[in-house]
Amino acid sequence: GDKDVPIDDLLTSPASWLDDGAYRHPDIQLPRRLYAPRKNSRGIEFGSRVELKHTLDGMAAASLSGSLEAFGAEDVEACMAKAQAAFPAWRGRDVKERASILERAADLLESDTTRIMGVLAKEAGKTVDDGIAEVREAVDFLRYYAAEARRIMVPRMLPGPVGEDNAYSLTGRGVVVTIAPWNFPLAIFLGQVSAALAAGNAVVAKPAPQTPIIAAEALALLHKAGVPKDALILAPGGAETGQALVGDPRVAAIAFTGSTATAKAINLQLAQKPGAIIPFIAETGGTNAMIADATALPEQVTDDVILSAFRSAGQRCSACRILYVQEDVAERMLTMIQGSAATLEMGDPMLPQTDIGPVIDADALSRLRDYVVEKKDQIVWQGKAPEGGLFMAPTIIRLRDDEVLDREIFGPVLHVKTYKAGKLDAVIDEINSTGFGLTFALHSRIQAVIDHVTARVGAGNVYVNRNQIGAIVESQPFGGQGLSGTGPKAGGPLYLTRFVQERVVSTDT
Ligand code: NAD
Ligand code: ALA
Repeated sequence: GDKDVPIDDLLTSPASWLDDGAYRHPDIQLPRRLYAPRKNSRGIEFGSRVELKHTLDGMAAASLSGSLEAFGAEDVEACMAKAQAAFPAWRGRDVKERASILERAADLLESDTTRIMGVLAKEAGKTVDDGIAEVREAVDFLRYYAAEARRIMVPRMLPGPVGEDNAYSLTGRGVVVTIAPWNFPLAIFLGQVSAALAAGNAVVAKPAPQTPIIAAEALALLHKAGVPKDALILAPGGAETGQALVGDPRVAAIAFTGSTATAKAINLQLAQKPGAIIPFIAETGGTNAMIADATALPEQVTDDVILSAFRSAGQRCSACRILYVQEDVAERMLTMIQGSAATLEMGDPMLPQTDIGPVIDADALSRLRDYVVEKKDQIVWQGKAPEGGLFMAPTIIRLRDDEVLDREIFGPVLHVKTYKAGKLDAVIDEINSTGFGLTFALHSRIQAVIDHVTARVGAGNVYVNRNQIGAIVESQPFGGQGLSGTGPKAGGPLYLTRFVQERVVSTDT
């Protein structure tokens, strides 16, 4: 990499790595997408070259001020009571007013982008690229759910028998508890919160214990935009705080994103709890596969595998965990993938050239290292992690023919298997046999194969001839099936409907 070149030189040099950087494998020249200017679905441009210095300065200025104590039983009791009291007034606001407040929060977040990216880097190890994408997604969620609430929460008269009026309306349900993971501590956290608020609910929001500060920053923006303090309360803490929130009798709905095991534990707790049956949205993990057949473009497969498996240090629920490659082209493709992977820069997430930052904490690192040691005889390639820090070397593991990847390995570990021509259906059966169904990608240039495979693989988000991460709000509603979640999809047209109460008032005229 060009680590030693001062940033100012990079900005003024016409032939800098910003424009010309490429994966340095002799066989391939792939453009680096990192700083290509791009717009989010609402037209906001991020990451242009002139913004880079400003971005880095803004990130450096971020501070992780304040420590947040975990909420115990008494805090949970107090915040649920406050939120319950604040609910009727928030529900009673006009939907347009609630939506405008969310849009104001989106504007505030956008204007604070660089500092927020700094918090993301410092608290969650997010690289510059991941920080840009995460702020963009959070802004998209705020604007999308505001627009959706305006669209669907319109009272209307239903057709009915003469002599009767049937008035149909949607309102908030009560206090929604949101429980978020650490891997998208801003976007997913705010997505859950903003949907529940837009629909007219009060919210008690529990971030992951690893990332409370970015959550506090997000809530401060929403409060500044006009959400009443008691209608949106942060409840920091871990599993115990989560259990206390789930067990509270006032919870009207739960939006959870995290591991499948935790989703099941919450579901069990809900089933055994006295009181109402409440909606539970669970968005969980996956063992996401990619298939590349002999007609796939090797350069494209390489680029997409690198992005899908290793970006964000593999700490995405959507990440590619296993590549099935047709035997005839396997050697060439795996050579290219290894060559590309070897050029990835690991290190300080605050440096713009860093592709892979640290993993979230020491526990995650030791789980990943233990797993790789367990599989040491099957490692076909492993990168080099920098000394010190929480860096997990990207690793490629070859599975035996009889081995099925049936659990989520949450880090930069890619598994590979080869398959013989004509045996695609066996691969599909193997993928479906895991019970997970979050993302899936297929690289093939034969339309009949594309139609056949995409119709049969059970996954919520299916990608053809592209990478399988970074779903875009509204364009690619995100969420899985089976062990990967209940739906409805985040950033999709059905999501808000889980947070509303339907009501019909029939009046004899
Ligand atoms: P996790 O399940 O350990 O924790 C998620 C949240 O649940 C945290 O806030 C945690 O404190 C809380 N929690 C833990 N036990 C609880 C309990 N018994 N009751 C209530 N709350 C409890 O997951 P994680 O390690 O924070 O996140 C990584 C996981 O999230 C991965 O499995 C990943 O695939 C998944 N994920 C899924 C999606 C999706 O959209 N499908 C998105 C991001 C992450
Ligand atoms: N929505 C995120 C992605 O698609 C998790 O990568």
